[in-house]
Amino acid sequence: MDLGIKDRVALVTGAGRGIGRQICLTLGAEGAKVAVNDVFQERADAVANEIKQAGGEAMGVVADVTDLEAVTAMVKRISDEWGALDILVNNAGIPVIASSEDDAVEGGQFFSQSDRSQWDRTMGLITYGVLNCSRAVLEGMSERCWGRIISIISDAGRVGEPRLVAYSMAKAGVVGLSKALAKEVGRYCVTVNCVSPATTETDATAAWIQAQGERIMRQYPLAKGLSRLGQPSDIANAVAFLASERAEWITGQVLSVNGGYSMAD
Ligand SMILES: NC(=O)c1ccc[n+]([C@@H]2O[C@H](COP(=O)([O-])OP(=O)(O)OC[C@H]3O[C@@H](n4cnc5c(N)ncnc54)[C@H](O)[C@@H]3O)[C@@H](O)[C@H]2O)c1
Repeated sequence: MDLGIKDRVALVTGAGRGIGRQICLTLGAEGAKVAVNDVFQERADAVANEIKQAGGEAMGVVADVTDLEAVTAMVKRISDEWGALDILVNNAGIPVIASSEDDAVEGGQFFSQSDRSQWDRTMGLITYGVLNCSRAVLEGMSERCWGRIISIISDAGRVGEPRLVAYSMAKAGVVGLSKALAKEVGRYCVTVNCVSPATTETDATAAWIQAQGERIMRQYPLAKGLSRLGQPSDIANAVAFLASERAEWITGQVLSVNGGYSMAD
């Protein structure tokens, strides 16, 4: 199936590794021009170089998505360079802990042990990251009457996850934002959807997955059959479809890509 996104311009946030990186590679392979965002220049540039080496067009763009001014400048830079910004993938969602090399959500703590600084970090990145980036791209998409906004949420936001209370809240909030925005901008042919992973093997989850041992496989109906957990490519394929011309009649929806972990309506 031709996805019809050759030469469309995409911005993927938090894309220097993990799920975001694979979304960039997949969109690049479909012929989209890809702006790879991260807070780390070297990560963003490395993914952009992978796309270029495969014959695609890409650039690394650094901005902290929690900073509206920086996000606005990044979107302007991309639009100036490539004349448009058609596809936004709000993927950044796991905070970088500045004081260490480790990334973590809420430190895996129970809510009663968590504190305001952890909530602020989680809510800031997920809630304001999505608000900032969506706000920055909308005017151009509306003017051109074509756009795709896809946010990577989490099944934690659909069914709740212990030790991830603020994270679950923030991800659920992105669903509300997406549905409301979808109703506002349908008239401009802009669609707004969410892709919802459960555990997906990335650097951010490697240690946790290892600690779970064999029992994690029992939580995923498809894991036994396929002898694997979720991979970044599973998420990237769903994003590519929702970003495509073929998905123009789909908006305000949440698609879980989770091996059957949760089956929320
Ligand atoms: N991996 C999973 O099991 C899983 C499950 C459900 C949902 N998700 C969601 O998928 C998305 C990607 O997860 P991942 O596992 O690939 O994460 P990851 O930590 O491997 O990669 C995220 C990237 O985002 C960057 N980043 C962090 N803060 C940023 C900011 N403020 N601005 C710009 N970039 C920033 C980091 O530098 C990192 O390179 C997140 O939204 C996460 O909540 C992941």
